[in-house]
Amino acid sequence: MWTGDQRKRLLEVARSAGLPVDDHTLIDEPIAAGVAWVNSRMARSGQGVRGQLLVFDMGGGTLDVAVLDVRADLGHEPEISVLSSWGVDEAGDALDEALAGELEQQLRDMGHDVDDLPMAAGVRAMIRQAAKEAKERLSHDLDTQVAIRHPDAELPTLSLSQEQVDTAIRDQLTRATHLVWAVLRGAQVTHEVAKAPDEIRAIPLETLAEEVDFVLLAGGMSRVPSVARMLASLFPHAEISSDAGVASDEAIVAGLAETASYERVNLHRPPFHFVLEYEDKDGVEHATSVYEAHSPFYPPYQAMQRSSLYYEWRPPRGALPAVGAGLVSVFTAGGERARLSIDGADGDGFVLRFGPNPPAVLIYPNGRVLIVDGKGSRTEFLVPRWPVIRGKDHAVLYANKRGDSRAPLVERSWMKDPLFLH
Ligand SMILES: Nc1ncnc2c1ncn2[C@@H]1O[C@H](COP(=O)(O)OP(=O)(O)OP(=O)(O)O)[C@@H](O)[C@H]1O
Ligand SMILES: [Mg+2]
Repeated sequence: MWTGDQRKRLLEVARSAGLPVDDHTLIDEPIAAGVAWVNSRMARSGQGVRGQLLVFDMGGGTLDVAVLDVRADLGHEPEISVLSSWGVDEAGDALDEALAGELEQQLRDMGHDVDDLPMAAGVRAMIRQAAKEAKERLSHDLDTQVAIRHPDAELPTLSLSQEQVDTAIRDQLTRATHLVWAVLRGAQVTHEVAKAPDEIRAIPLETLAEEVDFVLLAGGMSRVPSVARMLASLFPHAEISSDAGVASDEAIVAGLAETASYERVNLHRPPFHFVLEYEDKDGVEHATSVYEAHSPFYPPYQAMQRSSLYYEWRPPRGALPAVGAGLVSVFTAGGERARLSIDGADGDGFVLRFGPNPPAVLIYPNGRVLIVDGKGSRTEFLVPRWPVIRGKDHAVLYANKRGDSRAPLVERSWMKDPLFLH
């Protein structure tokens, strides 16, 4: 769910630490988990797999939920598309905190108020760590003893049960459920025949749940029995696995190792920059950003309140020349020029004529791109999936034409052609 800026910063930090990264090495966590799951399931069953996979990754600090469309046939690289994803920063640490509060209460009930102890902060840190370890033991044990050994404080042995974990996590799981539904509704806007937000809001939860064929429980917290139970109850018809061929907290790492499988990976937001290039009347070249790779189209929690969902670029009046034309072109996140291929014809970009009105470029979550030029003519194409670009020098964005598109697809050298300028 990271924006282009955040991605760039992470890559810079990695580079300055001496890691040999480039823009193609940054892989989104749910995709890595999905790749590991697809490969292990195909190896186990000896069969291809198709359907919608919900990745529920609850770690220490964050809960990430993603919906992937998986199409994997034997003998072919799987195609994996992220339809929707979002995360919140409430996961294992929050549960540890709640259990630590429970342990402190037990101590208080036995006449030991942590605030009255010398080194209260140190004791609290130990209680927190003890709570975390107890929580992990309680994934397989029904009860456990908790001893807090502090050199300066003689404290009684405490106990915690699986039932107490269930109670401590209840509200958190309610919030996690809301996130799951929000991400599933988010996946609905990526359908090629896009539904209106009103329509999507009206979809009953059972119908949303039925669209999920598989659930992958990833992250250490998925070992907590009440977490697994909650997902089983939300998706009674789905095949649920907490196994991507490896331990759940390693699923993402395992997927990262299988680089061969990334050839056909698609994101729910364009990993491309859209740029408007033009020459002014003095022959000076300009490049204006139309869309920054990976920018969100809209804030996720507002998504279901708006009546139409899209990304919109509209420069202020007077910012562009009133005559002549420019080129709407596409670059990879790493800054390499990409080719556009529309229904078999290809070029460097679309002609955008200037005119009395500011032009506009609109990008919709279902892949529809609409360019309105300065004279009001519309050009429309549809990118069925936004591919992740791997490797250099051969980036192509494939799309289909929609409606009676007006603007021609041209080479960049066209910008030098005086015939087109006026
Ligand atoms: N057996 C277990 N039972 C219950 N909880 C566990 C178990 N093993 C690990 N955890 C919990 O899972 C969490 C860590 O999970 P994971 O390793 O997936 O997180 P992470 O990827 O490091 O963090 P994040 O995804 O938040 O950045 C911790 O809260 C840890 O206590
Ligand atoms: Mg994690």
